[in-house]
Amino acid sequence: MIKKIKKDIMNRFKNDQKRLDHILGVNELMLELSSIYGVSLEKASIAALFHDYTKNDSLEDQKKYLSNYLIKRYKDTPQAYHGFSAAKILEDFYHYDDSEVLTAIKYHVTGRKNMSKLGKILFVSDYSEKNRTHKEAAFVRDLAYQDLDAAYKQAVIGKINHVNQKGQVLDKNQVESLMSVNSNIDLLSVVQGELEDVKVKDLKIFDFEKTNPFYDYFIIATINDRQGQAAVSRLKKAIKNEIRHVEGKTGWILIDANSIIIHLFKEEERTFYGFDQKFLGVKRIK
Ligand SMILES: [Fe+2]
Ligand SMILES: [Fe+2]
Repeated sequence: MIKKIKKDIMNRFKNDQKRLDHILGVNELMLELSSIYGVSLEKASIAALFHDYTKNDSLEDQKKYLSNYLIKRYKDTPQAYHGFSAAKILEDFYHYDDSEVLTAIKYHVTGRKNMSKLGKILFVSDYSEKNRTHKEAAFVRDLAYQDLDAAYKQAVIGKINHVNQKGQVLDKNQVESLMSVNSNIDLLSVVQGELEDVKVKDLKIFDFEKTNPFYDYFIIATINDRQGQAAVSRLKKAIKNEIRHVEGKTGWILIDANSIIIHLFKEEERTFYGFDQKFLGVKRIK
């Protein structure tokens, strides 16, 4: 399968050395990253070799492979068509049906929320393979060897910046992928920063992201009266759209910020309610 695809790609792009170099560059980087992150090398290679299969085809030609829904859905960002048309050809003409590979190819242009590891590796490799000359390429590529998620985040942000600079329209998937790489972790760092600024004591952040469906992080910290009120008013300003409610006044303040639950205790109450003991085995971020 890989041999046949490779031969077809070499032939298809024989008059476009630049595109061919890019495709082979993506393939090389994807193989390296996939072996680091435990992704199937065969899947990685097929995704890499095929991802830009229809890149040089006219939009009219590509539309033949797209449903009416997709044509409409991406009409303002038709550069996204080539991911979907390539996936369709791979599926229909090569009879290849691995959904992870097909999905990675479909969304390699815009990214999306909940990308698979393979999808992230394709997205990052497409953005940063060695033939890419833009200024973040080398940085993202180096980062990818250390931390795939961080590299994916940088690639998503970098690509969105390019779109903005060119004055093009952002696709909803791009906005969602940006939110998915940015939202919670940034919200958490804002909350943490505000609490640290008012000098709460013994701040602990428990990570429930994978284990609790209702919230992602649970924070406890020790306060005095002044710090408690200061923390509440600062958080109400800093993350006002996230705060669902605030409860309690002295001794124990509960702030429900959607994905983050914050409990601020005075010393005595903290000992009394004993959350530190209850969450002893829970993974901590701080
Ligand atoms: Fe592409
Ligand atoms: Fe590409």
